[in-house]
Amino acid sequence: TFPVRVLGIETSCDETAAAILENGRALHTSVVATQIDLHAKYGGVFPEVASRQHVQTIYAVVEQALQQAHLGIKDVDAIAVTRGPGLAGSLLVGMNAAKGLALASGKPLVGVNHLEGHIYSAWVHPADIQDPPPAPEFPLLALLVSGGHTELNLMTDHLTYERLGATLDDAAGEAFDKVARLLGLPYPGGPSIQKTAEQGNPFAFQFPRSRLEGTWDFSFSGLKTAVLRTVKEYEQDTRPLPVADLAASFQAAVIDVLLTKTLAAARKFGVRQILLAGGVSANRPLREAFLAQKEFPVQIPAFSLCTDNAAMIAAAGHFRFVRGKTDSLDIDVMPNWPL
Ligand code: KG4
Ligand code: ZN
Repeated sequence: TFPVRVLGIETSCDETAAAILENGRALHTSVVATQIDLHAKYGGVFPEVASRQHVQTIYAVVEQALQQAHLGIKDVDAIAVTRGPGLAGSLLVGMNAAKGLALASGKPLVGVNHLEGHIYSAWVHPADIQDPPPAPEFPLLALLVSGGHTELNLMTDHLTYERLGATLDDAAGEAFDKVARLLGLPYPGGPSIQKTAEQGNPFAFQFPRSRLEGTWDFSFSGLKTAVLRTVKEYEQDTRPLPVADLAASFQAAVIDVLLTKTLAAARKFGVRQILLAGGVSANRPLREAFLAQKEFPVQIPAFSLCTDNAAMIAAAGHFRFVRGKTDSLDIDVMPNWPL
């Protein structure tokens, strides 16, 4: 049938989300119920609180995504759901909701890797625009930067990934979150650091850049420790902490390492494009740095699609579904599923 419509469901962490996507790209509705306020007082995601909140919200969120699109479950061709990686208890809520819907409607179930979803967010555009942007073209180099992952993947075709390298310690988003905590900035750390850094000088502190020459890997723990050491020095001397300068200098170091390594890999592997995805790709200075270089075209998802959402799960689910990659109703979640 044409168009192909996919209902996406995402509950891997602290967002309960559902979306309706047509033909793998045209986004009709995307509902994201965030739990950020609920977790902020713990300074991070509290797994049991997250799964219980998903239980309370999931059906209303799916309902809303369908209603806003003026569709019923009978009008979709497949149900795509995040199978992993993520918090087991959270993943289970989305998975069971998707199975229930699949069983009741007879529509096929597609289990999606959350990281694959982040990458496919670059395919998504609003359904109501006149000239959709061109789809990403292969071979491409995908830099995935999220709260749990930081990796460089070479894609020569749909659903095909060659992992060139990854972080050896903290993920980029995790580094943002940890450094934000060190600086007394609220959770989630990425947006807080970005905002605070706007008032700061990125050259105030020369923080270390782990190059890890000869590999495509990353490391952010040395940078985090350098910030910690500086914070301690200020505390010892009871000098006021230059929070904005520290945030700006930290952010500049992260951007420098990500851009330099990605460009080097893009040259080495002769890709046509660079694709930036994952929660950290919402960072404005990071986006600007990638877009400022003119060597490679860069695809970055819209701001709202960088952090966790279900449109990206529907997109990856679409490209699996049209290749016959559906799953049976007895699949389990995979909390540590690599891409
Ligand atoms: O992709 P995502 O929503 O969840 C995971 O799959 O991990 O990514 C969340 C991460 C968090 O670490 C958050 O601090 C970071 O993305 N993040 C940002 C920004 N917005 C979210 N980091 C830097 N700048 C931002 N504007
Ligand atoms: Zn994510």
